Formats: sequence, C-alpha cells, structure tokens
Amino acid sequence: MNDEKFVEVKNLRKVYDNGHEAIKNVSFSVKRGDLVCLLGPSGCGKTTILNMLAGLLSPTSGDILFDGKSVVNIAPKDRQIGYVFQNYALYPHMTVLQNVMFPLTVGQHKKSKDEAEKIARKYMELTQITELADQKPGQLSGGQQQRVSIARALVQQPKILLMDEPLSNLDARLRLRIREEIRSLVKKVGITTLFVTHDQEEALSIGDKIILFHQGVIQQDDLGQNFYLNPNNYFVANFVGNPVIDNFKVKVADGKVTAANFSFDVSELDKNRFKRDLTDGDYVLSVRPENIVPAADGIVPAEIKDVELIGRERILKFDHEGQQVRSLVDLEQPVKSGDQVKLKMRYDRVFLFTPEGERVY
Ligand SMILES: Nc1ncnc2c1ncn2[C@@H]1O[C@H](COP(=O)(O)OP(=O)(O)OP(=O)(O)O)[C@@H](O)[C@H]1O
Ligand SMILES: [Mg+2]
Repeated sequence: MNDEKFVEVKNLRKVYDNGHEAIKNVSFSVKRGDLVCLLGPSGCGKTTILNMLAGLLSPTSGDILFDGKSVVNIAPKDRQIGYVFQNYALYPHMTVLQNVMFPLTVGQHKKSKDEAEKIARKYMELTQITELADQKPGQLSGGQQQRVSIARALVQQPKILLMDEPLSNLDARLRLRIREEIRSLVKKVGITTLFVTHDQEEALSIGDKIILFHQGVIQQDDLGQNFYLNPNNYFVANFVGNPVIDNFKVKVADGKVTAANFSFDVSELDKNRFKRDLTDGDYVLSVRPENIVPAADGIVPAEIKDVELIGRERILKFDHEGQQVRSLVDLEQPVKSGDQVKLKMRYDRVFLFTPEGERVY
C-alpha cells in the first residue's frame, strides 16, 4: 500500500490510429483521498488520459498503477472506477432511482433489488436528489442531472472517481455552488478523484493539486498558488491568472532590461530568483496586472484606454506595441480613461522567459 502514489502513471503515451500523438510520455501520481484537477486547453489530452485510466482506451506504451498494481491488462469493469461523463449519459426511460441503482443490478456486482435500492438511496441522500427519485432525467435541470450521474458513479463504491468536465453544462452561479458540493462530497466519501476541467478558476478552487497539460505534455504538477507565484514556463504563466498576465518584449544588454518605451537595471531584479545566468538577448518580461500599477515613481509611460469594473477592483487597459496590457487597481484609485500615467512594477514578482518560453527569472 502506497498512499502517496495511490494512482501512478508512468511514461504514458497514446498515439491514435491516425498517427496523432495525443499523450507524450506523461508521468504523475495522485495521493489517496486527494482531489486532483487535470487542467488544460481543449485538445491537450485530458479525456484521453481519463479514458486510459478507466480502461476504455489502451496506452501505446507506459504503465498505470492503482495502489501499486498495474491495471493496463485489467478490464474496465474490474478497475473499481466511477466515471462521470461530461454529458451525464443518463438513461432517459428510467427514473432517477432506477438510474442510480442501475450499476448494482447488472454484472458480477449484482445485488438484490432491496439492497440495491438501499445503497442507491444512501447516495441520493448524499447528493441531495432524494425527492427526485421518481422523475425521469428529461424533467430535471442540468445541475440535478449532474447529481444523478455523480450518485450513479458512486453506488459501486469505486476506489477512484473520474470526472470529465462535469460542470461545463451549468450556468455560472450553479457551477460555483456545485463545485463546492462536489469537493465536500468526495471528501466526505473519502474517494480519490481526478477532475478534468479547462477552467483554471475551477481547478484552483477545488483541487488539492493541479496538473496542467498542453499538447499532451505536463507543464506543471503543483499546488494551485504556485501556478501564480512560480510558473514553470511562459505557457503556465499565461494560462493561469485572471486578468491574464501582461507580456512585454524586452532586450537584455549592458546590464539593462529594455522594452519599447521603458528600461531598468538588471540589478533591480532579485538575485535569488534567477533560474540560471541571464545572458544578453531577447526575452519576454511578464508581470501579473496587480503587480504593475500607476505610481508617482513609475517607469512605464502609458495612456489609459479603458477602465473595466470587476466587483471590488478595476482593470485599467493600455496599449503597448499593439498589444493590450492590464493593471489591476482598487476602486479608490482616482483614474479614468484618457489619463496619462506611469506604471511601476514589482521587480520581485516579474518573470523573464526566453522566446521559446523557458523561465529564466
Ligand atoms: N479517436 C481519436 N483519433 C485521433 N485523434 C484523436 C482521437 N480522440 C482524440 N484525438 C485527438 O487527441 C487530442 C487530445 O484529445 P482529448 O479528447 O483527450 O482532449 P481534451 O483535452 O479532452 O479536450 P477537450 O477539452 O476539448 O475535451 C486532440 O488533439 C484530439 O483531436
Ligand atoms: Mg475532453
């Protein structure tokens, strides 16, 4: 028994029949009882990974271990997995109760009708759908159907729960509520969960940790806050964060970092944050909007093109070489569209990337 590596994926690859390499040598592990988010843009390989874990797809190479044992040669029904599909996949002609009971009424895990109903009702209670027992899926809202599919995935008491974008069909407010419910439910049941989403805020809010994918490759496997504070590369810095990070093309030469309309000494940067020696050349200087704000001693001249109110804060928008740059300020800042300002950045919070996206600072 190895709780740290309850689920372990080793050098996993998937090449589809048409030659497309969807997963390229991916390795990660999930701790027993954790809720881990697999995050990434459309097409990065999230569903492909879940399907290999579930046994619906076989890997081209590599290994998948549950509790220390390889499962690649084990049939899907014997892997003790619950799978919540994105489209719910409920049986339309069955009632909610029959849908939830269904996995217990077929196959080798078949239970007596009474026992199946008793277990089903327990999970319907947990997912708060008891009063919907006699309704058909067609009569339910998206959020209610979602709960039915979660209850159905849980009745067999699987060891691992896989959820593929389970909230994407719900409106914004319901998403917020149901994601909290999912987190508290899986923690109460104590089930190890892999939750797929392309929504970074969702991942940050519910994941014990996040694994971010891009083009079939893991970009970062880390605690949520490290995606903000310590991104591995340019892709991560730009994928995570709302409003998105600001990027400036710069040159490093003669001890200075120089952009189109500002410049500062390399010595302003924190020596301890360099990942390697900074050689002269082209880089991208990236800074989160809350770390570059108007100030009397600012160095980046800018004209406010637009001001967007987002709740307690405002986003100021600027042009920089034809690209939009943003600054996040509180409501007290006396600024308006058309104002000329100077922006000051926190040098201990900026990042420098090579043009290929490697983080140098
Ligand atoms: N059966 C298939 N044959 C060939 N290529 C496929 C097949 N299924 C998926 N792909 C490709 O593999 C890549 C990964 O697909 P996958 O469905 O895993 O992405 P995803 O991250 O789940 O995306 P989304 O967020 O849109 O659901 C994509 O480029 C996709 O086009
Ligand atoms: Mg998918």
